[in-house]
Amino acid sequence: MRRKVTVVGAGHVGATVAMRVAEKELADVVLVDILEGVPAGKALDLMEAAPIEMHDSKITGATNDYSEAKDSDIVIITAGVPRKPGMSRDDLLSTNMGIVGTVTKEAATVAPNAILIVVSNPLDAMCHVALDVSGFPKNRVMGMAGILDSARFRTFIAMELGVSVENTHAFVLGGHGDTMVPLPRYSTVAGIPITELMPPEKIEALVQRTRNGGAEIVGLLKTGSAYYAPASAAVEMAEAILKDKKKILPCAAYLEGEYGIKNLFVGVPVKLGAGGVEEIIEITLTDDEKKALQASANAVQNLVDAMKRLGK
Ligand code: APR
Repeated sequence: MRRKVTVVGAGHVGATVAMRVAEKELADVVLVDILEGVPAGKALDLMEAAPIEMHDSKITGATNDYSEAKDSDIVIITAGVPRKPGMSRDDLLSTNMGIVGTVTKEAATVAPNAILIVVSNPLDAMCHVALDVSGFPKNRVMGMAGILDSARFRTFIAMELGVSVENTHAFVLGGHGDTMVPLPRYSTVAGIPITELMPPEKIEALVQRTRNGGAEIVGLLKTGSAYYAPASAAVEMAEAILKDKKKILPCAAYLEGEYGIKNLFVGVPVKLGAGGVEEIIEITLTDDEKKALQASANAVQNLVDAMKRLGK
């Protein structure tokens, strides 16, 4: 049977996700947006690339109509506004919480068994909206952030050491914001911790560049935020789920006591498979790492509290 991935928001991230899912032949793709004609136009354009790219995935687009999304296996939520220079992800809170709430309601109604992957920012807070509005169990609602932040760290490690990105592995935990927690001890090149390969001040510089990775791109683009790497990261999650790969990846997951954090979405290593978040992996952290993760969780909690005040 053909699998179906619905991508809500046919903007930069959404269209790139649709392209990658189709070209990898992971599933048929339904693009939904509020803009008249745009999702249908992008879907047709992608279909017309298929004979050249050589795939048989079907891509359709619809404006404010979720009927094509019926019984989707996965719904990837990218709807919302991106940030502009000078804005933090948190500045998007009040606009995007409304948008994510609306689209989650529509998608959850037609695809009640889907797994939701949230991409819209501020990421961890938007996961709370998706969980609350859908009423889905926690294993079927998750956010894309850790893979992106880790990929940025991996890119900078590979650039610094002049090695293949394929040899790199990195873990970035915590919320998807300025308080994220890159973990050098668990970041390796061909299995060797980077703490053995670079002096501490160099590692600290790469950690800072990773924390600032999204803002660095916003500063260059000026009109919006990153989308190639965010789309790749969301598609890696979708692929792990569709193929039941049981892949261990850093994702925003709902914690109920793990890492000492309760009732909050925070980025941690999880096992991703057909059941969604099948397991939360608890790795040993030093006291400093624990403190940094808790500070990051506190920043997420502040946003969740702000949403309550805004009357979510
Ligand atoms: N329903 C469906 N689509 C919507 C809605 C809605 N209620 N509101 C907005 N959209 C659509 C917009 O019309 C637009 O096409 O979401 C799309 C967002 O696309 P872009 O503006 O290109 O933004 P993008 O770069 O894709 O980022 C989307 O992902 O990474 C995050 O911070 C980023 O929150 C932002 C989101």
